[in-house]
Amino acid sequence: TAIKSSLIDPDGGTLVDLVTPVAKRPALAAEAETLPKVKIGKVDLEWVHVISEGWASPLRGFMREDEYLHSLHFNSFRLQDGSVVNMSLPIVLAIDDQDKVRIGASGDVALQGPSGHIVAILRSVQIYKHNKEERIARTWGTIAPGLPYVDEVITNAGNWLIGGDLQVLEPIKYNDGLDHYRLSPQQLRDEFDKRGADAVFAFQLRNPVHNGHALLMNDTRKRLLDMGFQNPLLLLHPLGGFTKADDVPLDVRMEQHSKVLEDGVLDPKTTIVSIFPSPMHYAGPTEVQWHAKARINAGANFYIVGRDPAGMGHPTEKRDLYDPDHGKKVLSMALGLEKLNILPFKVAAYDKVVKKMAFFDPSRADDFLFISGTKMRGFARSGENPPDGFMCPAGWKVLVDYYKRLQVE
Ligand code: ADX
Repeated sequence: TAIKSSLIDPDGGTLVDLVTPVAKRPALAAEAETLPKVKIGKVDLEWVHVISEGWASPLRGFMREDEYLHSLHFNSFRLQDGSVVNMSLPIVLAIDDQDKVRIGASGDVALQGPSGHIVAILRSVQIYKHNKEERIARTWGTIAPGLPYVDEVITNAGNWLIGGDLQVLEPIKYNDGLDHYRLSPQQLRDEFDKRGADAVFAFQLRNPVHNGHALLMNDTRKRLLDMGFQNPLLLLHPLGGFTKADDVPLDVRMEQHSKVLEDGVLDPKTTIVSIFPSPMHYAGPTEVQWHAKARINAGANFYIVGRDPAGMGHPTEKRDLYDPDHGKKVLSMALGLEKLNILPFKVAAYDKVVKKMAFFDPSRADDFLFISGTKMRGFARSGENPPDGFMCPAGWKVLVDYYKRLQVE
């Protein structure tokens, strides 16, 4: 007998699952061969993965124009019953003029992955204009040159977008030795249920875990226990899709995260480490909504947010691209995220007096050291150790080894 799950409901009520059952795959593959084909890139395939497992529920495919406009202008969808779900990033597929001609009047299209295999069928397609400038300006709030996702995915993309319902032939795998970490929202929900979680708090990250991050997570657990939860579980949820060139690659981060758990900086008994398959936009307050929304679908009802989530330095000016406090403010106001408990945190920095990462106290600002990603890379490259208490030694070693390899290459 199934025990009714106490986890938060997915957006739209039921979790979207667009992976074709095994028995139906041969027929679908045969049909796909008869359809016009569109080649998709690596990042497009990451989105296929994301959509197929229901991270973007209730979205069932690449956005058609209506959905695109909702996302771009309102950061949300209004469902038929009047309820609102968040959807802050346009999840779209671009095609070029030749693709459009080849598709012609066909209602369905086969999507061919970067390796040449057909990965999915897109049904009842709709093709509409890809106004790149408008998409970029509205998503990032700037069209300054040098936005990583724009350079990698949008600039050279076609001038059309194609939306439709997605049917995926097989689960998306990367064969990089990390697939076992890529739990779908349903698998995560099953795991939380199995472990009897009465609260799930998610931590999105794309960087190595330092003790400041750990402070946020451990503080959250304490708060939840104080609130009366008996078994709050942490979802440590590194982003696994596209990241910018100077971010630490996924395999290195996963190794670093393992060390953090082995060293007991985070408690392995109450933590689930899994990979979030989304690519990264670096769109700050707009993107952090997507990060949070996707975790509702995976069963998280608490979401940690700190300084400058999904932010980066301005690509051409010497400043942060976004106000570092806007991410948490926007998240607390965002349409369709009302059912998610947002846990906003102050910035953590290295407190030289107690020799630990601690919440920044502006009344004694001089006691604090901010260790940015750039500074960390500097330390690792020069073989200099960061101050004691910044990161567990085994985790730090993983980074040093990585930067040493980088220098040799
Ligand atoms: S992100 O792109 O995934 O947001 P990152 O991995 O740097 O980037 O951050 C993960 C989470 O930790 C985000 O919620 C971010 O706001 C928070 N965070 C990162 N550094 C700090 C810090 N020094 N103090 C407080 N919160 C932080």
